[in-house]
Amino acid sequence: MNTPQRVEHQQTDRGYIPVYATGIVEQPWADYTRTDHEVWATLFRRQREVLKGRACREFLENQERFGMSPGAIPKFEDLNKVLKAGTGWEIVGVEGLLPDEVFFDHLANRRFPVSWWIRKPEQLDYLSEPDLFHDLFGHVPMLLNPVFADYVQAYGLGGVKAFKLGPDALMNLTRLYWYTVEFGLIATPEGLRIYGSGIVSSKGESIYCLESDSPNRIGFDLERIMRTRYKIDTYQQTYFVIDGFQQLMDATRPDFTPIYARLRDLPAFAASDVQPGDRVIQQGTGEGWVKSADV
Ligand code: PHE
Ligand code: CO
Repeated sequence: MNTPQRVEHQQTDRGYIPVYATGIVEQPWADYTRTDHEVWATLFRRQREVLKGRACREFLENQERFGMSPGAIPKFEDLNKVLKAGTGWEIVGVEGLLPDEVFFDHLANRRFPVSWWIRKPEQLDYLSEPDLFHDLFGHVPMLLNPVFADYVQAYGLGGVKAFKLGPDALMNLTRLYWYTVEFGLIATPEGLRIYGSGIVSSKGESIYCLESDSPNRIGFDLERIMRTRYKIDTYQQTYFVIDGFQQLMDATRPDFTPIYARLRDLPAFAASDVQPGDRVIQQGTGEGWVKSADV
């Protein structure tokens, strides 16, 4: 794999950072403030506590292997030693969300983009873009699981292909990422557990997704998910539940091209609705849902 080349330094409103041609930035670790480290410590302690008995074993155990602690924001370099040795993945620093094709290219090459900056103290419970806490605490642990690590790479390769096929294919694939990597639940002998990164980095949603009566919890179904819109500004109205990580691999192994073609003429489903044919684990009451648009 070729190492991205640094092209310039750039002054942003968050600091002076080295920029690489692929959008990769070097983690300006020495520039994190006391407040930044405190935000990390607070969120880290709080989520480790909330996730006991709620996150799946694969998430919790792999997270421990990194040796992350509340003491300080982890250095990407240190995490990469563990990650590269474990599954050959590495994390790369970025400013924030990337263009789709750039993001897919990183994943296809087993590079996971991590926002270098952390949220402000007044954003502990919610922010609308992925920061270091969401990316590092939420995504990186599962990349140490061999099956999941392969799934995310396969998704990246699938993304490169879907991008060329056009916006409809891309939308179908993005929904799959949303309802698995970001907001997925897994059925275990002990009960439902969380593996989705968007959930594990949120205290409120970690509790809501398992304990609230409001959302639907429905068995994983590839095409059903590809047709389902989602919420970006509230907790999810529907969660999809896998039986195991191998199920994700098996269901996503076929070529999606004919599936995209078939789905193009079918209507999308609202984030809130249960459909005939769903394997319903729990039908949500819908209580407390605000009327906002699905994406
Ligand atoms: N099999 C998919 C395709 O042909 C690729 C993929 C794998 C997509 C895993 C998502 C997750 O596009
Ligand atoms: Co994310």
